[in-house]
Amino acid sequence: MLRLSDLHASYGSAPVVQGVSLTVEKGETVALLGPNGAGKSTLLAAITGTIAERRGEIFFENENLVKEKSHAIVARGVALVPEGRLVFVPFSVEDNLRLGAVRLRGGREAMRERFAYVYGLFPRLNERRSQRAGTLSGGEQQMLAIGRALMSHPRLLLLDEPFLGLAPLVVLEIRNALEKLRKSGLTLLIVEQKLDIALAFAQRAYVLIKGRVALEETTARLAQRAELADLYFSLATSSAASARPSL
Ligand SMILES: Nc1ncnc2c1ncn2[C@@H]1O[C@H](COP(=O)(O)OP(=O)(O)OP(=O)(O)O)[C@@H](O)[C@H]1O
Ligand SMILES: [Mg+2]
Repeated sequence: MLRLSDLHASYGSAPVVQGVSLTVEKGETVALLGPNGAGKSTLLAAITGTIAERRGEIFFENENLVKEKSHAIVARGVALVPEGRLVFVPFSVEDNLRLGAVRLRGGREAMRERFAYVYGLFPRLNERRSQRAGTLSGGEQQMLAIGRALMSHPRLLLLDEPFLGLAPLVVLEIRNALEKLRKSGLTLLIVEQKLDIALAFAQRAYVLIKGRVALEETTARLAQRAELADLYFSLATSSAASARPSL
């Protein structure tokens, strides 16, 4: 479904993603691991076209997106749940969701179906339709960020550290929702720093170090090969200088 080939992305003259190749099959859940500053968020931004300086190939369902604008990429069926949630705080839950549907085709009927789908997945959002997003709890904001991405009816959902800073019960609630999405056939590429969550959730994982793929492995094999996990953690620790507080 997604195939990156020798993808580079940079901010001005500073290269960040440096020749990444990876694949995500239809229906698969793939984790992207790596220490702070490895370029995980930049890689997702490159896929969704929100970073201008990129080269290489980004094949999504056999179309190369590397020259396409972000709105066209969303319209093709790729949606991003960004790091740090980034909901529109002064707007209501409902308006946030509506904004996620600007590229949705199919008119009012499609919009109604999407609202019902998102509210079915996250009943808490349904209860808080008219509440301002800025007054939601962190967990509810994350649900809203996921819901907003789902409003465009994506076939590939990119999630950037969706569990960061959330209490265990909310993590469980969101994991259950993602599990449902996965069972419904949605393809997921999920950035996650915690190895245990990635191992429990994904079928395969890529470890990104300094903008390059350092390791690609099925999560089943990764779990068996403790030395790989150790390697990953030692690499992560060695670049801990730029780390934010561990949660
Ligand atoms: N808008 C920007 N302008 C310039 N440099 C940036 C910008 N965003 C990120 N960078 C740099 O790109 C590098 C990779 O950042 P990125 O956010 O992609 O890493 P990450 O793997 O997502 O890290 P984290 O785990 O902390 O979220 C970092 O050195 C960062 O300083
Ligand atoms: Mg990041």
